[in-house]
Amino acid sequence: MATQSETLKLSLSGRVKSKSSTPQALQIIDLKGFLFIYTNPESDLNVEYGEGMKKEPIFVTKPALPPLDEFIPYLEQIWDSKVLTNGGPFHAHLEQKLCHYLGVNQLALCTNGSIALLTALQALRISGEVITTPFTFVCTAHSLIWNNLTPVFVDIDPNTLNLDPKQIESAISPRTTAILPVHCYGTPCDVEQIQRVADIYGLKTIYDAAHAFGVKYQGKSVLNYGDLSILSMHATKVFNTFEGGAIVCHDEKMKERIGYLKNFGFADEVTVTAAGINGKMSEFNAALGLLQLQYIDANLAKRKAIDKRYREHFKHIQGITVLTPPKGTQSNYSYFPIFVNEDYPLTRDQLYFTMKDHQINGRRYFYPLISEMPMYRQLSSAKADNLPHAHRAANTVICLPIYPDLKLSDVDKICELISNAATSKKSTARKKIVSDTAHKTQVKKTLNGSLRHH
Ligand SMILES: Cc1ncc(COP(=O)(O)O)c(C=O)c1O
Repeated sequence: MATQSETLKLSLSGRVKSKSSTPQALQIIDLKGFLFIYTNPESDLNVEYGEGMKKEPIFVTKPALPPLDEFIPYLEQIWDSKVLTNGGPFHAHLEQKLCHYLGVNQLALCTNGSIALLTALQALRISGEVITTPFTFVCTAHSLIWNNLTPVFVDIDPNTLNLDPKQIESAISPRTTAILPVHCYGTPCDVEQIQRVADIYGLKTIYDAAHAFGVKYQGKSVLNYGDLSILSMHATKVFNTFEGGAIVCHDEKMKERIGYLKNFGFADEVTVTAAGINGKMSEFNAALGLLQLQYIDANLAKRKAIDKRYREHFKHIQGITVLTPPKGTQSNYSYFPIFVNEDYPLTRDQLYFTMKDHQINGRRYFYPLISEMPMYRQLSSAKADNLPHAHRAANTVICLPIYPDLKLSDVDKICELISNAATSKKSTARKKIVSDTAHKTQVKKTLNGSLRHH
């Protein structure tokens, strides 16, 4: 085991490959191809490693990629044609293929999900206040601020963790123009009830469906509900084009308007119809999307098997709850959140850090709650007593690793660790350390980390 000064020397002469969330306790150093993992003797963590054993960290996700050689012909076409962007042939082809695969009428590809969301709000000319959920990735609320709109937070339904339609009505004011719900983790929102409220009050509905690629509800794509839905095709998502996104709409007229907005507002060479943005997907990303689409069903099947395995394990682990999708859902198995209840012997953070000590890097999606962040917490709707279910979810959740290449044997090991952590003496000893110091550090890191969420 290296001492601290040796650590420093190694760090200087080698290359710091990655750091644990508790770098003072655990260091991983890649020195000219040799991997060193050791604990700091001053730390109380005492992580154990098998003799000579190199532990590969497991992350919450790992992007699915097609075989590289299959991508080369696509690149050759791009190199030959020199059409790199501005709505080239791969862009058009992917839009058409995705409409067919997803079962939607119209789809406009975008640079990423964030730009898709900003553009969707512009396309519907939303103004004033927008009702949304605090239990989501920051981008949902940020898209409102970027459009000079005021988010109004409404609590979530504890069963779906999505915007609770029963609570929307009381949050509507004369300034409300839209509802921005999220199909969080790909779980469909209560789309019928949300539509009912939207119809009564004449509100637009934009679904943040960043997690919901391929999800079906009552036999049809969940993307068909509301006025618009947006998708993310980021590297971390079920279907990825490295970076990418899309707006799903119902008719050609809206698709045309979105087309202008994502191309600086240009309708033709000399006509600028709106203060648009550059939100176009490049030919590189679109070509990759076409190839990725050939593998999506196989990848979803692998995710399904992993989800099933986790569920079997959690039937037998007391104190941990898993989400059950609403009846009629065809899931995409994009996330596997667990909720650490009071009758589990460790707190959520104790379990989270114990997992980290064992190189199992889950994520506390979505903690902290958006309503607790500096740019939102002054809003009256952001008060904690307005959002009890969202707070509970944020304080108890850990999203476990799930991605097509994750081995079922790794799922077994993760669940064994969660099961054993509840009883192990070492975990009990961690209680003080975690709650006193590491937790504070981690809250800071999470804030930074959530900026780097991917
Ligand atoms: C709920 C939600 N909305 C929006 C986004 C933004 O998508 P992108 O990263 O493609 O910009 C994400 C991305 O992680 C997300 O999780």
